[in-house]
Amino acid sequence: MKNMEDIETYAAQHRVPVMMDEGLELLKRKIIEYDCRSFLEIGTAVGRTSLVVAGLFPNMRVVTIERDPEMIAQAKENFFDSPFKDKITLIEGDALEVEVEGTFDCIFIDAAKAQYVRFFNKYYPHLSENGIIVSDNMNFHGLVEHPERTNNRGTKQLVRKLRAYKEYLGALVDFETAFYEDGDGVAITRRRK
Ligand SMILES: C[S@@+](CC[C@H](N)C(=O)[O-])C[C@H]1O[C@@H](n2cnc3c(N)ncnc32)[C@H](O)[C@@H]1O
Repeated sequence: MKNMEDIETYAAQHRVPVMMDEGLELLKRKIIEYDCRSFLEIGTAVGRTSLVVAGLFPNMRVVTIERDPEMIAQAKENFFDSPFKDKITLIEGDALEVEVEGTFDCIFIDAAKAQYVRFFNKYYPHLSENGIIVSDNMNFHGLVEHPERTNNRGTKQLVRKLRAYKEYLGALVDFETAFYEDGDGVAITRRRK
């Protein structure tokens, strides 16, 4: 059986992007604060966050979506090797194409950064009444605040998309969003009461 350290070492050695530790701590705190018992993750990678979240409550249910075949293979192995294999469902496919059933107390958006608005629109109908939507990489290594620090065209475009997503969240009438500096910047969105 692999432990979390093995999974983290694999991710670091293979340059698999996983949520930064400080961001993950914030996510855990928010899941506990809002008493979330179901978790939908867009972008599994090797399954590290799914495994951490699955361990938070005995009755936690996790559904996670991944499209990359190598990540899927690693995540499957990691889930199977864990005490949480019955609590986690891995959906293989593009999150913009697959269908999920039911509602979730926490929806975690952590896949292709240029698609965040589309992920949000597709998945917010699956948010339970008092649930939270958590979006990672809101600062994107400081570049969202300082786009002039990169000359890479692809990165500039991605940063524009993330800025647009932040503005989009801020302008929503039915939802309110708090932005946190933890990790790579995390947004927590809830329905307005
Ligand atoms: C930042 S990593 C996810 C890290 C993971 N959430 C964690 O905290 O450990 C992003 C993952 O999203 C996947 N991804 C990107 N776009 C996707 C899409 N449209 N549908 C499904 N998975 C996607 C990538 O293959 C990658 O593995």
